[in-house]
Amino acid sequence: MDGFRVMSMTEAAKLGDVFCTVTGNKSVLTKDHFDLMKDGAIISNSGHFNVEIDIPALERMSSSKRTTRTYVDEYSLKDGRKINLLGEGRLINLASAEGHPASVMDMSFADQALSVEYMVRNHAKLEKTVYKVPDDLDKRVAKLKLESMGIKIDRLTPEQEEYLAGGAKEPKGGHRTSDVSPQQNPCRDSRPRLSSGPFRAARFLFLCGAGTPVRCF
Ligand SMILES: NC(=O)c1ccc[n+]([C@@H]2O[C@H](COP(=O)([O-])OP(=O)(O)OC[C@H]3O[C@@H](n4cnc5c(N)ncnc54)[C@H](O)[C@@H]3O)[C@@H](O)[C@H]2O)c1
Repeated sequence: MDGFRVMSMTEAAKLGDVFCTVTGNKSVLTKDHFDLMKDGAIISNSGHFNVEIDIPALERMSSSKRTTRTYVDEYSLKDGRKINLLGEGRLINLASAEGHPASVMDMSFADQALSVEYMVRNHAKLEKTVYKVPDDLDKRVAKLKLESMGIKIDRLTPEQEEYLAGGAKEPKGGHRTSDVSPQQNPCRDSRPRLSSGPFRAARFLFLCGAGTPVRCF
């Protein structure tokens, strides 16, 4: 969606200089990947918990380990390469830096506070189950955040709202991108892109607001 190139971890392992896992999964970086990494590669994790990088496997592959500076452990592999592990594989921004910046947490706290207010006001009609944060509340927080940062974005016109609500069907006489010849099509890059309708629309508006007139997804 952001235009990043995607690839398998096996392919990425050969190319990367710095790796940071943020998946919430386990064994995302394993021996198979360490085997392929460049000498001097830096690996870290920011997901919960310190199981995303298979540190026991890295230990087994290493002939020695030394702390080169605070939060940096250099593993010397038996084949001579070195791999640097940051923050013992714990959440890097919490273990080795200053945690969550207030500018990120303020949105979570605003959502939580307004959700509590919503529950107090609406408890009579709520069932004992888990609800998603109401969309208008979520949007209000996002709007306030953007305003506080001095950022202006476009508003959808009523016609655009209606079009999206109706499932964004192809208009009569309209063209899909695939109808356009490759020469006419500005989105000729054939690499895979992850995108979904609403996200694509929202992202496009944001980028227009930021002054980027054309962007292909
Ligand atoms: N460090 C922090 O401050 C911080 C803040 C928020 C969330 N987190 C943690 O970050 C992790 C991710 O959170 P999220 O909200 O982005 O989750 P998410 O589910 O939205 O995103 C995780 C992504 O990882 C992908 N993934 C899962 N296994 C993978 C694998 N083996 N290889 C490659 N990709 C894989 C999933 O497909 C998904 O796209 C969670 O553990 C969460 O607790 C950390």
